[in-house]
Amino acid sequence: MEEVIKINGGKPLNGTIRVSGAKNATVALIPAAVLAYGKVKIVGIPDISDVKSLEEILEYMNVKVTTPNIDEIVIDTTNMVNKPLVIDAVSKLRASYYFMGSLLGKYKHVAIRMPGGCNLGPRPIDLHIKGFEALGAKIEYDNGNYILSADELIGTRIYLDFASVGATINILMAAVYAKGQTIIENAAREPEIIDCINMLNKMGARIRGGGTSNIVIDGVEKLEGCFHEIIPDRIEAGTYIILAAAMGEHVIIDNVIPYHLDSLISKLKEIGVNISFSYDQVEVAKNDKPYESTNVKTMPFPGYATDLQAPLTALLTQAIGNSKITETIYIERFKHCNELNKMGANIITASPSATVVGPTELTGCDVKATDLRCGAALVVAGLIASGTTTIHDIYHIDRGYEDIVAKLSALGADIYREIID
Ligand code: EPU
Repeated sequence: MEEVIKINGGKPLNGTIRVSGAKNATVALIPAAVLAYGKVKIVGIPDISDVKSLEEILEYMNVKVTTPNIDEIVIDTTNMVNKPLVIDAVSKLRASYYFMGSLLGKYKHVAIRMPGGCNLGPRPIDLHIKGFEALGAKIEYDNGNYILSADELIGTRIYLDFASVGATINILMAAVYAKGQTIIENAAREPEIIDCINMLNKMGARIRGGGTSNIVIDGVEKLEGCFHEIIPDRIEAGTYIILAAAMGEHVIIDNVIPYHLDSLISKLKEIGVNISFSYDQVEVAKNDKPYESTNVKTMPFPGYATDLQAPLTALLTQAIGNSKITETIYIERFKHCNELNKMGANIITASPSATVVGPTELTGCDVKATDLRCGAALVVAGLIASGTTTIHDIYHIDRGYEDIVAKLSALGADIYREIID
């Protein structure tokens, strides 16, 4: 028995779709909340399985988790116990590694299983480890588990060889309780990092420079509870903008910070998408002219997001001419191309690039979500394709997209879940 998503493609989309809170902020904010001695209330929590896994980890540590509303969480660490995190929930998502930073910061000791997450090729965490060591932690690796410990953490300058999102967040979480000042040089600048810094500062942290390449953290003695609202999910928004470009007659994507999507909006304008935006909405209207091909290179923010590479690839199968897509973040992140080719696309992959030869007609068939954003690309392709697309391994999609079937059905898509043998 397996649950799949089925799409009968070719239906025009109309209406308004609302974006949820950002997954990649949420998965950092929840581990960050345990740094507090008090209650942290976060609103705008997306209803996705990664959140469920994090809640499981919190409850395992005796943290009281309540959800006054579906999109709210209250995290109370009063009775928290710093147990070794060697449970299955840790392996279900990459972001469980944020407990390394937060528990090391708070307790100066953490034992944790190797994190899981999407298979996008090699995903080392050497920069996280280097940062923790620079702060004074000793790291042991034993049979798939990391053990980090320190007598005390002392602020220092840490240069990241690559502007890693995860390493930036993890190091700053450990550094909030370090003695003195920590400076992260060549820090990542993604909006989710700023969101995390904003919440930590509300808790009493002293962090400056979020959104720039130099983040300065002055260590403090104690963090308190706070109230925080999560930023909208720019990747979910971008996915819906792309599928509106593919099949929309008139679609409004609501609860968006358009600035977070500048690179996508520019690319879409370039290929001929009829797109405009206001304060917190993006509007896509049908353009009767076919789209033109383009070249795109994924980059750290504010460059084109790697997480929107796969959905854009699906759209570019409909553009006239050859589009070259180059990955600079995860050079092997092209598994969706094989799946799209099964549907009739003509994509030639030679890592770190792929060439989409368009336009091609897409036809529904059985495909597999090999990772979260591959799943998103297959939804885009399934909406375009003639016939029925059956997407397998949809647990990847459920890790990051809240209610995708209900949201797209409301726009007029013929999409549903089915249990098959
Ligand atoms: N890297 C290293 N060493 C490290 C850390 C990273 O070599 O210690 C390399 C990675 O292998 C990769 C690059 O640096 O080639 C970028 O990795 P980064 O650390 O920035 O990514 P991440 O923190 O693991 C987050 C998102 C990803 C998103 C990337 C890039 C979360 C939980 N994940 O991953 O989201 O693709 O940033 O923006 O925030 C997704 O949502 O589908 C997803 C994979």
